[in-house]
Amino acid sequence: MTPQNAPQSSGLPAKRGGSGSRIAVIPGDGIGQEVIPEACKALSAAAAAGNRRIEFVHFDWGADKFLKEGISLPLGAEEILRDEFDAILLGALGDPRLPSNKHAADILLGLRFKLDLYVNARPVELFDARFTPLRDRTERDIRFIVFRENTEGLYVGMGGIFKKGTADEIAVQEDINTRKGVERIIRYAFEYARRRFLKHVCMSDKSNALNFAHDLWQRVFAEVRREYPEIESRHLYIDTLSMEMVRDPRQFDVIVTCNLFGDIISDLGAQLAGGLGLAPSGNINPESTSLFEPVHGSAPNIAGKGIANPIGSVLAAAMMLENFGWERESAVMEAAVRAALRENQVTADLGGSLGTRTAGDWLANFIAKQRLSEAGK
Ligand code: NAD
Ligand code: IPM
Ligand code: MN
Repeated sequence: MTPQNAPQSSGLPAKRGGSGSRIAVIPGDGIGQEVIPEACKALSAAAAAGNRRIEFVHFDWGADKFLKEGISLPLGAEEILRDEFDAILLGALGDPRLPSNKHAADILLGLRFKLDLYVNARPVELFDARFTPLRDRTERDIRFIVFRENTEGLYVGMGGIFKKGTADEIAVQEDINTRKGVERIIRYAFEYARRRFLKHVCMSDKSNALNFAHDLWQRVFAEVRREYPEIESRHLYIDTLSMEMVRDPRQFDVIVTCNLFGDIISDLGAQLAGGLGLAPSGNINPESTSLFEPVHGSAPNIAGKGIANPIGSVLAAAMMLENFGWERESAVMEAAVRAALRENQVTADLGGSLGTRTAGDWLANFIAKQRLSEAGK
């Protein structure tokens, strides 16, 4: 892969993963339980192809456990994950039986905050022009990465409700933005662009309305961008960015934004590249254990039917290997996905006729054959 066409990795030196790796697997809820086994299969095949060892340890955290035992994220979980594992592979959290979403917040947001996974890297890459809903757009037009701040903003859960259930009810949700938090995600975006020789960085906020929180984003961006004169950096308000992503996605290489806006535009970006079934993400702490997951959720509307697309999880697992510095194994996984799309060996969301398991089998077989052909060279 050339730097220009591979926006998936952290772009920074891997902190984890030697010749072998220990991975904590949290399938979670709904289709998470269906797609994650397929990602593990693809990972095992890729590790075998590269003569690496990989060990999976499964954790049953999710809605069922919470309903049965009242436990969401067990005490001490973050220490175990941080100290005993090289990475975490997660499916999705969310269950219609638990509308408050408390268990999902405890587990998913809990891990993002407690492990200080401050970079949420969400690459958007159109692998095959057939899959974009945009007219006359090709693979060359849609290839960028969103860096979403992942530990602050409106997600921190500070606030409260006063006079609940009365006509005078007040709900407050605080938007937390620290200089340290804003600076490190903006700097990460610029460093990523510099290492990969990408030309454009776009910072997006809503500083015209959020005159305190996003004034800080403006000032920090103005400071940091001065250190990267070779990169063309600019600012767009989030409403304009959303419109421009659809009108002319080609103009973007790297987008950096706050937690909530990053959540929203990463689903928009996913759809530009073929849909949520394809989109991977990495929740990264450059110094410690990171967490990789598909962008999609638990999809209760299709859960249990065996039709969920496993590719988002397989690509998230490929991001994990790239983060370890296992470039070759990661590239083989991505090559399998490209081949599956080309040959229409895909699930129904992409117009194919495979189920989750058969789509995963196809990918794992493709990866295993790569090993055979390489051995035969
Ligand atoms: P969703 O991403 O689960 O589903 C949105 C739509 O995309 C649905 O129509 C679904 O069928 C489809 N879809 C998603 N993934 C797919 C796949 N792999 N293959 C085929 N189709 C796929 O979003 P939602 O319905 O808004 O949320 C459902 C639950 O998931 C909620 O509880 C939500 O909070 C949670 N959620 C969790 C995460 C996460 O754990 N990271 C992310 C998003 C949503
Ligand atoms: C995501 C999800 C989560 C988020 C939800 C489940 C809290 O939508 O990972 O994109 O908003 O971060
Ligand atoms: Mn989301």
